[in-house]
Amino acid sequence: MAKYSIKNMCLPALLFFAAINNVYADNGYKLWLEYNKITNSPLAAAYRQQLQYMIFPAQSDQLKAAKAELLTGLDGMLALKPTDTKNITGGQTIIIGTPRTLNAFSTIVPDSLGSEGYLIKTALINQKKCIVIAANTDAGVMYGVFNFLKLIQTNQPINKLDLADHPRIMYRVLDHWDNLNRTIERGYAGSSIWNWHKLPGIVDQRYIDYARANASIGINGSVVNNVNADALILSPSYLLKVQALANVFRRYGIRIYLSVKFSSPVELGGLKTADPLDPAVKKWWADKADEIYRYIPDFGGFLVKANSEGQPGPQSYGRTHADGANMLADALAPHHGIVMWRAFVYDNKVPDDRFKQAYNEFKPFDGKFKDNVIIQVKNGPIDFQPREPFHPLFGAMPNTPLMMEFQLTQEYLGFSTHLVYEAPLFAECLQSDTYTQGKGSAVARVIKGDFNKKLITGMAGVANIGTDLNWCGHPFAQANWYAFGRMAWNPDQSPAVIAADWLKMTFTNDAGFVSPVKKFMLQSRENTVDYMTPLGLHHIMGVSTHYGPGPWTDNAGRPDWNATYYHRADSAGIGFDRTGTGSNALSQYAPEVKAYWGNLQTCPDEYLLWFHHLSWTYKMRSGRSLWDELVHHYYMGADSVKQMSLTWGKMQGKIDAERFTEVKQLMQVQLNEATTWRDACVLYFQTFSKMPIGAAYPKPQYPLNYYKSMKFYYVPGIGGNNYMTN
Ligand code: GCU
Repeated sequence: MAKYSIKNMCLPALLFFAAINNVYADNGYKLWLEYNKITNSPLAAAYRQQLQYMIFPAQSDQLKAAKAELLTGLDGMLALKPTDTKNITGGQTIIIGTPRTLNAFSTIVPDSLGSEGYLIKTALINQKKCIVIAANTDAGVMYGVFNFLKLIQTNQPINKLDLADHPRIMYRVLDHWDNLNRTIERGYAGSSIWNWHKLPGIVDQRYIDYARANASIGINGSVVNNVNADALILSPSYLLKVQALANVFRRYGIRIYLSVKFSSPVELGGLKTADPLDPAVKKWWADKADEIYRYIPDFGGFLVKANSEGQPGPQSYGRTHADGANMLADALAPHHGIVMWRAFVYDNKVPDDRFKQAYNEFKPFDGKFKDNVIIQVKNGPIDFQPREPFHPLFGAMPNTPLMMEFQLTQEYLGFSTHLVYEAPLFAECLQSDTYTQGKGSAVARVIKGDFNKKLITGMAGVANIGTDLNWCGHPFAQANWYAFGRMAWNPDQSPAVIAADWLKMTFTNDAGFVSPVKKFMLQSRENTVDYMTPLGLHHIMGVSTHYGPGPWTDNAGRPDWNATYYHRADSAGIGFDRTGTGSNALSQYAPEVKAYWGNLQTCPDEYLLWFHHLSWTYKMRSGRSLWDELVHHYYMGADSVKQMSLTWGKMQGKIDAERFTEVKQLMQVQLNEATTWRDACVLYFQTFSKMPIGAAYPKPQYPLNYYKSMKFYYVPGIGGNNYMTN
């Protein structure tokens, strides 16, 4: 193949290439692993000086991958390749390993680091100043290496290091809602990255980069298929494909898991029943588990959505969630696999507040699950709304492992066109006090197993990843993937610190960029709550598609799919009474929590309409009427997008032109959609309040009917060919 040399190129060609370089400066594919050249030369020189030599014996695949990453990072940021050495002879050396790979490390690595922790410190070895990255295991070394690189990516000094860290949660898992035909349920960033048709023969570079990115933030598990599972995934031909992915993930410390359909013994195995107490069914699952482990010796286990939204489950055979989960747990136990059994259930036949149904179904089984079962609970009781109170189960099952389930994909947060940094939402839930063991029983402590050390622990994030060049659709949606990993590692980490790290690693260390952008990131989720569902409103988006506003929806397939079920607006007022005079859902919380949210004197404005039905003239803390307050929030929310976009405009030139322009355009779309939300909602609720929209506010652009008749075709995230309309 002819090689193009710059020497031989004519001027127009050179300009063409220069233009391409300029326009396509950065498409976001590298995520937070950009490893951009450090432009501050004294800093770069100081780094180089300290990293002249390297002792990093790497025999295992995982250590080889960690070493390759270190070299890629140092090369990208510092154009440096430390000299490999066996002895500390001179200059400054970085020494990396485990007690198994380096004898000297047997006294350095404390047991307290566990199987995934690491330490990074400055030490004097043979009178020479060295940097040591040490861990008990190869996985720990890998996490140490990524965190060392982070120090350089974020321009931290490395001349006096003394860090040690370990994960507080055992199972840190991404859940892909990816179908085998490559559509993604609630996916807004293209198709599934798993190319099932080409697997196992073709192992795409994306799988490797996916695993690298996850390892860099401590994620150690991946459920590759949708919770609304296809039984086919357990067939031999698909298991071969899954095996190929597992082989890539393994060297990055990531175990693969599968969502399984409870009726697989019938659909795939040809049995007459999937009754979990039937001996033939038990045997089918045990045999299937043995088969899977023959393909994938470190297979993680199963994720199960049972008896929920039409999925089969043990109740289909008159059995319980515990019967179903324990049967699968028995099949996996000999191989050390786990069952993640979801608590996202709500029953058609029970005419009770949907808020209460998961608690009602699961609470009676506290302590009845096998040790390798973990109950996966969504952060809130309804369904990943812009704001939810924490799920009452977190305070109600002290003898059962509970795994947090957050949603990274923005099903209810503007898809991938709205900039919404979700870490504040995660933190709000994690730091909520359940009072389960008295004051100070934050959800984070429950899921870390602080109150019951025997329990396994986990956190899951529903992935926001697809085939879009930048993986997540919106450059800033990458921050949600990043933040999830950091908070699964340590649920008490601060959203602000995580945002700053992410911005520096993804864009630039320039404080003139990091500081204003971090500020609007931290505010962005509250802004979205304001223009979508302020004051505790919830589930008022377009039916089925969940796109755009749909507070008028009142004819969906079942009552609790209707927006009117949730907001209960009428001429007297608005909100869902969940106190003793209403559904009494509040009684599912500890008395302190119930009293706090149940009492209008203490219930924060943010949660008001989650728990109370109040008159339009109800006087708010601000002195405004409830109606005026609602209008105020809707306008404030939409206005905040305008402010954010003005701030972004000032960032031109501070980062690459490509991502700058993409975000700029996305913010315009977000502003348009936020304005639609605002106008549609205030006009709709006004039909009940009959009160005016303050003269200070711009009038909604169109009449209510315009918004009600808006149609959206082929909305992403619902799969198949069916398009749904609002
Ligand atoms: C939501 C979502 C569904 C998804 C379900 C689940 O209801 O809209 O698409 O399947 O959650 O978490 O199982």
